[in-house]
Amino acid sequence: MPLLEVSDLKTYFKISRGEIKAVDGVSFTVDSGEALGLVGESGCGKTTTALSVIKLLPENARVAGGKIVFNGRDITALKDDDLYDFRWAEASMVFQGAMNALNPVKRVSDQIMEALFLHKKGMTKKDGLARVKELFELVELNPSMIHCYPHEFSGGMRQRAVIAMALALSPKLVIGDEPTTALDVMVQAQIIDLINSLRAKLGMALIMITHDLSVITELCDKTAVMYAGKIVEMGSTVEVTTSYLHPYTEKLITAFPNIYKERRMVDSIPGDPPDLFEPPKGCRFAERCHVKIGDVCECEEPVLTDITGKGHYAACHKLTGGGAYV
Ligand SMILES: Nc1ncnc2c1ncn2[C@@H]1O[C@H](COP(=O)(O)OP(=O)(O)OP(=O)(O)O)[C@@H](O)[C@H]1O
Ligand SMILES: [Mg+2]
Repeated sequence: MPLLEVSDLKTYFKISRGEIKAVDGVSFTVDSGEALGLVGESGCGKTTTALSVIKLLPENARVAGGKIVFNGRDITALKDDDLYDFRWAEASMVFQGAMNALNPVKRVSDQIMEALFLHKKGMTKKDGLARVKELFELVELNPSMIHCYPHEFSGGMRQRAVIAMALALSPKLVIGDEPTTALDVMVQAQIIDLINSLRAKLGMALIMITHDLSVITELCDKTAVMYAGKIVEMGSTVEVTTSYLHPYTEKLITAFPNIYKERRMVDSIPGDPPDLFEPPKGCRFAERCHVKIGDVCECEEPVLTDITGKGHYAACHKLTGGGAYV
């Protein structure tokens, strides 16, 4: 049984003119200890997928369909009281931009202890501080710095502190939303090493959200590529990055600068993703696709299909023979 099973998840945002279908029928699983990478252009629904899993959606969002099962428990309809045991204790998240959202007037130790005290009612301050020290050691920060304020930390140190916070209650799943994006390359590499060593030590499962394909190749066992609210390709990271099947993945990978190859202008993908207020009824990538095969692409929604028969999925009419139209 997978640790996390997301089936046909639909998460919509209410806006004045109607609803934005930010996540529209997404399914994936994460096994215990497994690392899944979630990649795709800005606005494709990565953060919304993560916030749906951890049940921290903004007020104007609703889960319009689908099911989320975590550790055998259906969390789709969890009430607030039960959510308490789930969030942070079972699944936690390093939020996008969190390292810059630490409270500047509160000591880092107090910010981590807040989460501890919320969940561990009888915990004493002494035990709390001991746990914070332990967490600092775990993320390779000097424990003598627990009482510092965020501005006394470098960017990399703040990111480590935010990771420590996510680990405070020893969750089985940690979601990292672009945890390396705002850092310079050297610090990025150190954070990637840290996440790898934490996984080896603690054995937690990981969902890594990133724009950066090199991050997923270093951290993730498998990868899901999202486009306009849907997963268009999914499989082992090696297969998705080296034997990609979907034309969008191809564009994404060839658009990624490779330092080992000759310098060239990065191809941008012509056009924009569709408006998720009124998504097209066929393939959402059709308008920008360089291998479109005909009307079927515009009229019929392609189904995510195991193309190789060995767990490498893609949703593309070209790969599945064109549906009823061809
Ligand atoms: N609170 C909100 N209200 C209305 N629409 C929203 C809200 N949050 C996100 N959206 C919309 O939902 C879609 C998906 O957004 P999401 O933040 O999940 O994308 P993302 O893949 O994480 O992008 P990025 O890479 O920029 O972080 C976008 O079209 C976005 O504009
Ligand atoms: Mg995001």
